[in-house]
Amino acid sequence: MEPLVDSYGRRIKSMRISVTDKCNFRCTYCMPAEGLPWLKKAEILSYEELMRISRVAVSMGIEQIRLTGGEPLVRRDLPELVHQLHELEGLRSLSLTTNGILLPQQAKALAEAGLTRINVSLDTLLHEKFTQVTRRDQLDRVLEGLDALAAYPSIHPIKINAVAMRNFSEAEVLDFVRFARDKAYVMRWIEFMPLDADQIWRKEDILAGGEIKAIIEAAYGPLVPITSGDPSETARRYTFSDNIGEVGFINPVSEPFCAQCDRIRITADGQLRTCLFATEETDLRSVVRSDADDVELARVIRQAVWHKELKHYIGDKRFKRANRSMSMIGG
Ligand code: GTP
Ligand code: 5AD
Ligand code: SF4
Repeated sequence: MEPLVDSYGRRIKSMRISVTDKCNFRCTYCMPAEGLPWLKKAEILSYEELMRISRVAVSMGIEQIRLTGGEPLVRRDLPELVHQLHELEGLRSLSLTTNGILLPQQAKALAEAGLTRINVSLDTLLHEKFTQVTRRDQLDRVLEGLDALAAYPSIHPIKINAVAMRNFSEAEVLDFVRFARDKAYVMRWIEFMPLDADQIWRKEDILAGGEIKAIIEAAYGPLVPITSGDPSETARRYTFSDNIGEVGFINPVSEPFCAQCDRIRITADGQLRTCLFATEETDLRSVVRSDADDVELARVIRQAVWHKELKHYIGDKRFKRANRSMSMIGG
């Protein structure tokens, strides 16, 4: 089939699937303390429906699928979905973004099912701060989850994602660098984006990737850029002068990367989003629950992708908040 392109000529190769809106944490930058009204079971796409959408998307040139949530590991039998996706011919990468606490129980099954990459969210290495940001006292369980991955080299290198926030993250930058270099994790900082349900985001709370880089360089000397050859990557990647370890900066606010974006998203209730900050969605669930065939499904996907947003307008008067918070979209 013809490759998926949008009206600005961007070729779409990556699809992020949110498999559930539920989560066992309540990160302040994402969800309110009391949670959100969860989707009903009937509203959520079944694995069969997700596989049909994925099969059609892969036939249209999607090469990478990332599973997200909410917290994806709270969805029952996730390794079964991983297994089925892994069998799709044409898929080059199958990855997961998780908060990590269910990895001790699930790492083995996920690795055996064919997961190729994993990103674990961890914003602080200190118990008190961890409990403050996630509203759950579970730091040790995340660390156990990370340890549980050590036995599965097929999903290495493991990436750690920390949301960077002013007056929160600065003091631990070097601790995270040491931790990651020691354990051979790729360490990445993400600029805080206005996607939180509580609407606590303020421009002043952003800690730019450049500021974190300066903290690291003051201690380790100039970082050495790594070029992957994939311009659509979210992170600016660096290693150290001794070549040990990797850090990355995801700078959607200070250095937007929309011009190279190759991503679309499917929400747990089957809505296709062509941007993290989209204000409109395309209802794929109704299509897969109607008598439409795969040709029609492909047509709907192609048409939605064509209208993919040019860019986000964070920090600009034109900015409009997305119509859902991060846990509903999947990051
Ligand atoms: P890799 O393929 O391993 O590099 O993962 P990734 O960075 O694409 O995905 P991950 O789930 O680890 O996301 C890290 C951060 O990047 C999250 O905060 C995402 O919301 C953010 N992110 C991912 N894609 C986009 C995007 O298209 N636009 C913006 N603004 N942020 C994005
Ligand atoms: N800004 C930036 N990153 C966020 N994440 C969740 N909410 C936000 C936000 N408001 C991150 C999570 C996870 C990834 C999918 O998105 O920590 O690493
Ligand atoms: Fe859960 Fe992820 Fe949102 Fe935190 S950021 S509450 S881990 S969905």
